[in-house]
Amino acid sequence: MGWIFACLPTKKVVSKFNKNATPNVKTGMKVLDVGNTMGFFSFPAAHLVGRKGKVVCVDMQKKMLDALTKRSKKAKLQNIIEPHKCTQESLYLDDWKDQINFAFAIALIHEVPNKENLFCEIRQSMKPSAQFLIAEPKGHVTEEQMKHSLKLAKNTGFVQLKAGLSDYMCYAVMQKLD
Ligand SMILES: C[S@@+](CC[C@H](N)C(=O)[O-])C[C@H]1O[C@@H](n2cnc3c(N)ncnc32)[C@H](O)[C@@H]1O
Repeated sequence: MGWIFACLPTKKVVSKFNKNATPNVKTGMKVLDVGNTMGFFSFPAAHLVGRKGKVVCVDMQKKMLDALTKRSKKAKLQNIIEPHKCTQESLYLDDWKDQINFAFAIALIHEVPNKENLFCEIRQSMKPSAQFLIAEPKGHVTEEQMKHSLKLAKNTGFVQLKAGLSDYMCYAVMQKLD
């Protein structure tokens, strides 16, 4: 994951994220950040949902969640950002079934062996018709690999609303089929 800090102009990536997320993320929403690491995108999301919202941050590395907790306390966003430990096998999101308004997975999908299971679990946590932003690093992930991931997402009950390329990322916005 070093690539994101090493190669990317931070402002450009965050503003791209905001451009894709902002129309869908509103005050008070419950947002899911899968593979949050230290919260590079969790913090912009927390500012979008505000005090009445939640950003559920799921990562399998405890040290990443500990760093996220520390940073969210420092930013006084600990009541919005909710760290959640998972494993490679399961996200353990049963408590969030049908509650998430918007989900995103940035630079994550290519790291996950069982992508279908991951998409199923993300889908189960989402409200009907909620949207899911997938973004992958262009240099790491080929167009074919991205297409394959999107096909798996469609097989698990998502429809693709849009897809595109930016300088560093390929992305798609999916919607949960009811
Ligand atoms: C490349 S980093 C992406 C970080 C962040 N989304 C970003 O763009 O800054 C991938 C993160 O996903 C986590 N991860 C890998 N497999 C996972 C899985 N199956 N479920 C949840 N998190 C996972 C890793 O621990 C790591 O923190």
